[in-house]
Amino acid sequence: MRSMAILPILIAPDARLKTVSKPVDTVDDGLRALMDDMLETMYAAPGVGLAAIQVNVPKRVIVMDVAREGEAPSPRFFINPEIIWQSEEQAVFSEGCLSFPEMFDDVERPARIRLRYLDYAGKAREEAADGLFAVCIQHEMDHLEGVLFVDHLSRLKRDAILRKLQKARRLAANA
Ligand code: NI
Repeated sequence: MRSMAILPILIAPDARLKTVSKPVDTVDDGLRALMDDMLETMYAAPGVGLAAIQVNVPKRVIVMDVAREGEAPSPRFFINPEIIWQSEEQAVFSEGCLSFPEMFDDVERPARIRLRYLDYAGKAREEAADGLFAVCIQHEMDHLEGVLFVDHLSRLKRDAILRKLQKARRLAANA
């Protein structure tokens, strides 16, 4: 049996995070091994969602677990996800991202969506999302287009977050 691996996560500002990811042709054991490693990496971070590009794999693959603390783990896998409907109603949520450690800011997005995707087995599925699930899947799907949550903020806020990250990186490098 193969053991899972924790993969290094790309941290902003890293030009590779701007990559537009490519659709997956075949859902095979190689892809499932990647998804297993991504899930392990996400849980270890810890985070609630991770897109493959964040571990430098430009494929349209997302792992997620939005179970609350104390609830049983509920790992989810989304391959080639597409939004097929979104509500006019918007919702604001304070978002973070594993590629922006310890940075959070309010982002407004459609409150509810319907999406279509392939699951872990490669089966086509359609599903409605709201609440944290809707926030998280939209945030992760942005990653597939090379869009980061800070791209939804004003330039002032975005620059402030990037400055803080660069400062943290310099401090870490000099430690
Ligand atoms: Ni993110």
